Amino acid sequence: MERVLITGAKGMLGLDVIDVFRETYEVYGRDIDDFDITRDKETMDAIIRIRPNIVIHAAAYTDVDGSETHLELANSVNGGGTKNVASACRELGSKMVYISTDYVFDGTKSGAYSEEDPTCPINAYGRSKLEGERWVRTLVDQFIIVRTAWLFGRGGNNFVKTILKLAREKGALSVVNDQVGSPTYAVDLGRAIYVLVEKGCKGIYHITNGETCSWYEYTQEILAMSGLGNISVHPISSDQLNRAAKRPRNSVLDRGKFERETGYRMRSWREALMDYLKREGKT
Ligand SMILES: NC(=O)c1ccc[n+]([C@@H]2O[C@H](COP(=O)([O-])OP(=O)(O)OC[C@H]3O[C@@H](n4cnc5c(N)ncnc54)[C@H](OP(=O)(O)O)[C@@H]3O)[C@@H](O)[C@H]2O)c1
Repeated sequence: MERVLITGAKGMLGLDVIDVFRETYEVYGRDIDDFDITRDKETMDAIIRIRPNIVIHAAAYTDVDGSETHLELANSVNGGGTKNVASACRELGSKMVYISTDYVFDGTKSGAYSEEDPTCPINAYGRSKLEGERWVRTLVDQFIIVRTAWLFGRGGNNFVKTILKLAREKGALSVVNDQVGSPTYAVDLGRAIYVLVEKGCKGIYHITNGETCSWYEYTQEILAMSGLGNISVHPISSDQLNRAAKRPRNSVLDRGKFERETGYRMRSWREALMDYLKREGKT
């Protein structure tokens, strides 16, 4: 049985990726309390002990606004930490799957972003994740870079949980209406990563759930599906929110390459959201 190491195992994506791979692989889930990816020797030693055939690298510093002020931390985890994981993959000849982000783009394109579109991050988090991509491409022969966006899942905090909490506390919400993307269920992304690995795919892939929306439209759907359609939601602009990190206006990723090469179709985010809310007992 092939051995798969998943970093960031206790994170939102890691939890669901473990479940998907557990069925047919010997899975090793590891997080910062096992080894800190910013420490090169610790990381190399830990990965060599496991001798994985495949490493799914989901560990990251994911605080987008925090990355503006904790620039060194973001770079050392997302850039340097990824270099350390990639170096171990190179040493062992392991395949590596790196989870990247729509934030490598500036969001000014009018259509969906393809894998060939030039990257141009507009915030510190995006720059640090792009640095991680560069290390993976430089150090690992058999790599897959999966760019995804707007994740929700049972682990950790996510937008859906935040909206439901605020709706109960406040009764009325203001949500940005000028950023567009595709919400993506961690379970569905986990299955898509499994398909990529099983099919022996290599290179960069864009993977999200199907169809697009703004955060405002997403919020309306979350509330309606949760029986909270009576809560009023006001559309606002990103400028009104005034957050530390700029966000791309357009985060829509083109899944065409993934779907053509694997024959696997990602369902719509609405279908996935309904599934998630049912599992969480929120409908
Ligand atoms: N969430 C999204 O919307 C989104 C969108 C696009 C791409 N992504 C990418 O998808 C991947 C998974 O995201 P996620 O939302 O599941 O993230 P998450 O919930 O924040 O999980 C990341 C995990 O990595 C761990 N970690 C942080 N620093 C570490 C270090 N130095 N050494 C070892 N482990 C460390 C974290 O531990 P602590 O919690 O203890 O810090 C956490 O368990 C990330 O690569 C992220 O960049 C996420």
